[in-house]
Amino acid sequence: MGKIQLQTKATGLSGEIQIPGDKSISHRAVMFGSIAKGKTTVTNFLLGDDCLSTISCFRKLGVSIEQEVDKVTIYGNGLEGLIEPSEVLDVGNSGTTIRLLMGILSGRPFHNVLIGDHSIGKRPMTRVVKPLTLMGAKIDGKKAGEYTPISIRGGELTGIEYTLPVASAQVKSSILFAGMQATGTTVIHEPAKSRDHTERMIRQFGGKVENDGLTVSINGGQELTASHVNVPGDISSAAFFMVAGAIVQNSEILLKNVGLNPTRTGIVDVMKQMGADLTIQMNENEQFEPTGDLTIKTSDLVGTTIEGEMIPRLIDEIPILALLATQAKGTTVIKDAHELKVKETNRIDTVVAELTKLGASIEATEDGMIIYGGTPLGSGQVSSHGDHRIGMMLAVAALISNGEVTLEDAEAISVSYPQFFDDLNKLLK
Ligand code: S3P
Repeated sequence: MGKIQLQTKATGLSGEIQIPGDKSISHRAVMFGSIAKGKTTVTNFLLGDDCLSTISCFRKLGVSIEQEVDKVTIYGNGLEGLIEPSEVLDVGNSGTTIRLLMGILSGRPFHNVLIGDHSIGKRPMTRVVKPLTLMGAKIDGKKAGEYTPISIRGGELTGIEYTLPVASAQVKSSILFAGMQATGTTVIHEPAKSRDHTERMIRQFGGKVENDGLTVSINGGQELTASHVNVPGDISSAAFFMVAGAIVQNSEILLKNVGLNPTRTGIVDVMKQMGADLTIQMNENEQFEPTGDLTIKTSDLVGTTIEGEMIPRLIDEIPILALLATQAKGTTVIKDAHELKVKETNRIDTVVAELTKLGASIEATEDGMIIYGGTPLGSGQVSSHGDHRIGMMLAVAALISNGEVTLEDAEAISVSYPQFFDDLNKLLK
């Protein structure tokens, strides 16, 4: 795809789209299916590059996985069924794959080497290496284990009580995967509630985990049983159309089957607070993950402050919310979001740099950004910097631009939303 010309000056968006499967849940479905006993089926699996990396790693670990479009069948033989891979495990661009896999592999009595792409090579791993080492795993990597390549020799683990320095579902989940293989109980304290898909899926696969406020505990020695996972639509993908519908004139979009787990719906709360015309129809009978349909219409918006415990509930939506804020009346302040610096790119820098190129009035701060709203956007040559969410945010920004916009590195979008442009084209009037 390389460099592409984006659609600009949209006169309206209308119609409905089925949001593709949730990335976090698709990864976890393959992981749990691989370590449970029996045949797990996954429907509405996200065919994004990241989730395909997870499938490829588990195949190398000896798990038989069949994939027919978005239906995945996993023949798990329990944790003991995993075997020492003869090749390195390549996680591509996926932070979730590497961090969660490290938790699983820490308890397996063999050796692995994990690598990823250029972006993964810059993302911090000490946050998982430290607790997993405390539990007994032998892990090393570049710069004392901070970066890939990472090597793990797993084995006997002991439960720990651990306070996470940052609210991170990846770190929490990694420790939970190790904890279910450790002797005794593992207790994790979070500074703020992060997404709880791992806890929900442990229960769905017949395991036990306790959530008590910001504390999660798990007992070792658990055996999981295969299950069926119907993956809900990814609210982090829906986010691009929620914002597009709100800022493009004459728009009304229906987004079907969106996952509405309360640990992920920060964007809904913030958009409503900003005055968005957003309505939700909840689906009934969803046992493990709540879902619903979202309707978004062109909206008059006001600026807001996004901070504190809200941040983990919308961490991946900050780039697109920054764009939304450029179109709101008044100023929006985003604080307490240091974590943005260690995502697929430094998302404080990439959001500010790329939106500035289109004429937005936006400043970087130490832990977030300040966005001065009511600014029309114009022409420019922008880049995703290889970050899927920056690419999609810029494609939505282009819709309201009154000049020409080209996007470099557009292919990054396939990490989480391969049919993004098809869905966008369906909605254009
Ligand atoms: C994810 C957790 C979040 C999120 C990432 C997916 C997950 O990362 O940004 O896109 O699937 O657990 P952190 O745990 O680093 O906050």
